[in-house]
Amino acid sequence: MSKLWGGRFTKSAEEWVDEFGASISFDKELVLEDIQGSLAHVMMLKKCKILTVEDADLIISGLQILREKAKLDELTFSVEMEDIHLNLESMLISEIGPVGGKLHTGRSRNDQVATDIHLYLRTQTEEVVKLINGLQAAIIEQAEQHVETLVPGYTHLQRAQPISFAHHLMAYFWMLERDKQRFNECQKRINVSPLGAGALAGTTFPIDRSYSAELLGFAGIYENSLDAVSDRDFALEFLSNSSTMMMHLSRFSEEIILWSSQEFQFVELDDAFSTGSSIMPQKKNPDMAELIRGKTGRVYGNLTGMLTVLKGLPLAYNKDMQEDKEGIFDTVKTIIGSLKIFEGMISTMKVKTEVMEKATKNDFSNATELADYLAAKGMPFREAHEVVGKLVLFCVQNGCYLADLNLNQFKEASELFEEDIYKALNPYEAVKRRNSQGGTGFEQVKLAIEKGKSLLV
Ligand code: ARG
Repeated sequence: MSKLWGGRFTKSAEEWVDEFGASISFDKELVLEDIQGSLAHVMMLKKCKILTVEDADLIISGLQILREKAKLDELTFSVEMEDIHLNLESMLISEIGPVGGKLHTGRSRNDQVATDIHLYLRTQTEEVVKLINGLQAAIIEQAEQHVETLVPGYTHLQRAQPISFAHHLMAYFWMLERDKQRFNECQKRINVSPLGAGALAGTTFPIDRSYSAELLGFAGIYENSLDAVSDRDFALEFLSNSSTMMMHLSRFSEEIILWSSQEFQFVELDDAFSTGSSIMPQKKNPDMAELIRGKTGRVYGNLTGMLTVLKGLPLAYNKDMQEDKEGIFDTVKTIIGSLKIFEGMISTMKVKTEVMEKATKNDFSNATELADYLAAKGMPFREAHEVVGKLVLFCVQNGCYLADLNLNQFKEASELFEEDIYKALNPYEAVKRRNSQGGTGFEQVKLAIEKGKSLLV
């Protein structure tokens, strides 16, 4: 098979060199986008009378045949044809004859590949937003059942103050809401057409870039032809948004892994999202959460890889840019898989409410309540902190908790303590009273859940 760009060459490269330079093994992922871009291009050539109606229509019918074959997975690609663009062009020529060679009029692979990636990421971003939304819905469903389930809240992984478990879950809802916003926001930069920029300088043909952009559903076109073929910022944004989202999923995974441990026993994952050990019969491992935590690394890697490829590249297209695709595809596959798994894991997760609640009782996470109690009665908070610190020390030394002290012992520490101190120490009351905006008080949590529901699309 001779190369479509073979004219200037006197000898052909050896097979192993071709193989090194080829991208078809991975850019075949873009087959439908490439055909879609070509269809818009040829329709534009027809409208602008750059191609005759007959030629254009023949090319359109050829591309449609290729599209049907692609959907049925009936196309056989060759390494010799290097990439998806040249493979499809040579298939078109085989399908309809030499007129197929007119498709590439006023176009270059440089604006072609950029168009393909824009189209691809636009679709994938829509899918990712839908999946984030699905995970948010699963979080809300769990949260609704656990507004009044108490759990220790932690700082430094030390028990800090009791909170509503729904409040803890909803923290992730809001992280995902920002992720969703970021993906929607970057669509503005993804949804722009580089088509018609040519190799780098535009073209001598009287093309209509706005028309092909419109056919492809793009909201606008790149203003500068050099920028159009060199830009991968839009892909970087996608990779960066994916990295931030995976960081959130990784933190959530880490908590789920801790919560399923013998030490916590706060939740039990469904068997469908756990695995056993080949040697230890008692094991039930939170593999899926671990894998998502682990896969976060490759998503960061793809972002770093792309930033590094682009750094120092002179304008305009350079072959280095062919390295953009595998990282993008890998990230798309990884985040879509992770979001799907996460939704299943959350919606089937059993919450062990008694274990959580017990944990809020057998600790000192109600110490702040005591300090607040004294402060509310006029003692400067700093002083109250000191008084309560001494009470905690006393309890630690005597193997008891604050609620075990009798009123005399409290009064010895401060005359301000009255019988109602026991109510204040109750974790349920402690949570309920934290009714400040965005706080863990049950009323606030219910409001947050309602607001969250209104944001689901
Ligand atoms: N396979 C190439 C890529 O993915 C397509 C663009 C090639 N352009 C060129 N002038 N060699 O980047």
